[in-house]
Amino acid sequence: MAIIQPDFKFEDLGIGGLDKEFSAIFRRAFASRIFPPSIVEKLGIQHCKGILLYGPPGTGKTLMARQIGKMLNAREPIIVNGPEILNKYVGQSEENVRKLFAEAEKEYKARGDESSLHIIIFDELDAICKQRGGKNDGTGVGDSVVNQLLAKMDGVEQLNNILIIGMTNRKDMIDEALLRPGRLEVHMEISLPDQHGRVQILKIHTAKMRENHLLAPDVDIDELASLTKNFSGAEIAGFVRSASTFAFSRHIKGGTTATVNEDVENIKICQSDFLHALEEVHPSFGVSDAELQLCVQNGIIPFSEDIDRILKDGSLFVEQVKNSNHTPLVSVLLHGKNINIIVF
Ligand SMILES: Nc1ncnc2c1ncn2[C@@H]1O[C@H](COP(=O)(O)OP(=O)(O)OP(=O)(O)O)[C@@H](O)[C@H]1O
Ligand SMILES: [Mg+2]
Repeated sequence: MAIIQPDFKFEDLGIGGLDKEFSAIFRRAFASRIFPPSIVEKLGIQHCKGILLYGPPGTGKTLMARQIGKMLNAREPIIVNGPEILNKYVGQSEENVRKLFAEAEKEYKARGDESSLHIIIFDELDAICKQRGGKNDGTGVGDSVVNQLLAKMDGVEQLNNILIIGMTNRKDMIDEALLRPGRLEVHMEISLPDQHGRVQILKIHTAKMRENHLLAPDVDIDELASLTKNFSGAEIAGFVRSASTFAFSRHIKGGTTATVNEDVENIKICQSDFLHALEEVHPSFGVSDAELQLCVQNGIIPFSEDIDRILKDGSLFVEQVKNSNHTPLVSVLLHGKNINIIVF
């Protein structure tokens, strides 16, 4: 039986711009589970037991966690929010983790590799799986929770019928041991949406207006997508909300008590409302293109050898942050007598 619903489209679930990520997740985490266990055994491979979805805030991780059950022909996933697991009483947090696995264990004992797939989603995993031995909480609760999770995934009592999906916006905080092969081995970055993704997300968040004919015909989604570079999904949602408030305000009567005009039925959200909203909602990541252009409009004059060196080193740091797992953040201090602005 197919694990993924055959007619399934992410856009229908209200998740935009993550098709590529999902097909990779499917290949790495689910594909082997469609095959009969006897064939998988002949291949000598093990199913992937865990994936980690990480990326900046507001890119749709929690949204995916909530919707993932709808795309699967499997039992409903158990979804837990990291902080919910933690309990101040000794042993209670571990007990909470064990409880999550109880059903999967029972079925595995009864049916072995024929058992159906149990998915457990940990949203905000960083809250419980901080680097062990970390000084941040002093109770050691996080440590034993990590140990408990590790034991369930590949310890002596390991299960083959589980898939753990962890989500976080702080991959650097997650205990390394949990990220190794055999555990949360597939790491998938859920990054800011590209142009195509932004078109999808804008369409999702304006779908209702369009359906009810409240979106003016001059609204150009492609143009809005180009204007919302570096916006996360959540910021795009906020952008649409902001645009609609500009339309509302056209229909509010002045006076001592604010009331709406009779023509409110004809409310339309227009392109100009979106353009207004752009002045109000700003992305928290990335440099504004306009500002960057302003800085480098006449090019960078290499008035000394240092300039070349700084630019070269700067690009190396950029690559390092992009490609290395160990340095999610590098800070650079430029100092000198006359500081000039250099933008990497
Ligand atoms: N890819 C997307 N497609 C459609 N809507 C999105 C997308 N990403 C975010 N949103 C909108 O933003 C809201 C918040 O996103 P969500 O809570 O899933 O972010 P998150 O990645 O879990 O962030 P955090 O890392 O802060 O927990 C969603 O409920 C949705 O309205
Ligand atoms: Mg979230």
